[in-house]
Amino acid sequence: MADFRDDFEGKVVIVTGAASGLGEATALGFGNAGAKVVVADKKAEEGSKVSSKIKEMGTDSIFVETDVTCEDSIKNMIDKTLSSFGDLDILVNNAGTGGPHLGNPFTRTEAIDWDTSYKVNVRGTFYCCKAVYDMFIKQGHGKIVNLASIAGKTGDPTIPHYSASKAAVINLTQNLARELAPYNINVNCVCPGLIYTPIWKGLGYMMGKTYPEQFPNMSPREVFLANIDKLVPMKREQTAEDIANAVLFLCSEAAKNITAQALNVCGGAEIK
Ligand SMILES: NC(=O)c1ccc[n+]([C@@H]2O[C@H](COP(=O)([O-])OP(=O)(O)OC[C@H]3O[C@@H](n4cnc5c(N)ncnc54)[C@H](O)[C@@H]3O)[C@@H](O)[C@H]2O)c1
Repeated sequence: MADFRDDFEGKVVIVTGAASGLGEATALGFGNAGAKVVVADKKAEEGSKVSSKIKEMGTDSIFVETDVTCEDSIKNMIDKTLSSFGDLDILVNNAGTGGPHLGNPFTRTEAIDWDTSYKVNVRGTFYCCKAVYDMFIKQGHGKIVNLASIAGKTGDPTIPHYSASKAAVINLTQNLARELAPYNINVNCVCPGLIYTPIWKGLGYMMGKTYPEQFPNMSPREVFLANIDKLVPMKREQTAEDIANAVLFLCSEAAKNITAQALNVCGGAEIK
């Protein structure tokens, strides 16, 4: 991880979806930089473990069981943050999902895929941003980073509903950034490329089943690596730490004049 200790010592950060994958790496990155980290996730056992790891680094952290699709649950997340740490400086909207048919073509997706991905990725991000909106304006500073995807810029026929939801996250980010810029609040996205987290393990499995001619008898990991070879000009996978570094950078003083951006971390998978 890059060293951001000067930027985040004592700052209060919420990371949603921080029980695994990119959210976990981001939460640990902030903890490593001395921030007080609220680990917010639906998964209590895994989330509590991440929070414990941060405390072992010598930094404060709490786990708050949170469902970002539920406004009451988000209110509880904010209340617990303020009662524990008295403040909030940074919100990272990382919780995300792809629904049960991620890895299928357009005609094989169902309403449940569109509804689930919009509910978590778009509505969840909206709810969390809304929950901090007045507070950030009143205090005169704040950083919001939303996790989108390169699929939100390029589209991808194997994940159509997910791509569309991430395009909406990018647009939501631009809208909010314009609105909050006069109040010294930065709102940006990170657009990850391909990282082998639980979401990709499921996607790799499904793609192997859906496209056997392209991925004959391949394990989810082999399907993932075949996609790296096909889609990523730098020919290497991205890591959760790569994404965490980008999130921390966008929240740092060095990025104070960066807002409304959707920063790709994808080894060149979207080159224009
Ligand atoms: N892994 C990739 O290649 C990749 C690429 C592009 C974008 N992304 C995005 O990055 C983010 C993190 O993905 P990841 O790869 O770490 O996935 P992951 O599945 O490992 O982690 C997602 C986390 O979000 C949590 N979550 C899901 N629904 C939630 C809800 N309603 N409320 C609270 N928490 C909830 C899960 O419990 C899980 O801990 C997601 O928004 C994902 O769409 C990932």
